Amino acid sequence: AIGNIKGFKSGTLRLAVVTTSEYFIPHLLGPFLEQYPDIDIQLNIGNREQTIERLKQGVDDFYVFSHPPTDIETEAIEFLKNPLVAIAHEDHPIAKKKNLTLKDLCQEPFLMREQGSGTRYAIEEFLKQHQVNLNIKMTIESNEAIKHLVMSKLGISILSAHTLLYGGQRGLVRLPIKELPINSNWFFVWSKAKRQTLIASEFLNHIESNGRQLLQQEMVKSELAYTK
Ligand code: PGA
Repeated sequence: AIGNIKGFKSGTLRLAVVTTSEYFIPHLLGPFLEQYPDIDIQLNIGNREQTIERLKQGVDDFYVFSHPPTDIETEAIEFLKNPLVAIAHEDHPIAKKKNLTLKDLCQEPFLMREQGSGTRYAIEEFLKQHQVNLNIKMTIESNEAIKHLVMSKLGISILSAHTLLYGGQRGLVRLPIKELPINSNWFFVWSKAKRQTLIASEFLNHIESNGRQLLQQEMVKSELAYTK
């Protein structure tokens, strides 16, 4: 019925998502656009801090975070797990070791996301809890570049398991560190102050009814990404 309402089929949906969710948001948009091919999508991708800034300015219909800001009035739905896992190249000596703990990980050169990244925020909170420090070798503004640096044996890292789906994991192994994964979740967030458009609420329905399941299936299929 909603499809008959004037204006709905051809409006704009504005999304601002954190960089790590670029691994799954497009897979939600495909099926949605099949249903509503004339909708114009504006997809902005930034790190957590940049995405929070857009939320403050009220630019977009929806935001995707794993750590939504707590000082802004928002509504949110939690829709998927976001385990952060440790990765190394399969030839790295640490990949051969058994009974790995966080202490082992802290010895190795570590590739870290930039200041302002939600991934980094989650890792730092986790390190504080466990009262350990990493041996940071390089700071990099991209999950994809970090993966390729790990593939080139420059170091190890902790990234969202979503970065390892859909074929982007050649030569990588997941390290069975006792204290990991870091458990977090993905949220769709919107501002309380901004009225939801029809397209936006239809998109939310789509995520809740189809999107969740689609992404969960994808996680389960992947040995590297799957966590219980
Ligand atoms: P990031 O965000 O791309 O800023 O690291 C991911 C997250 O918030 O978990």
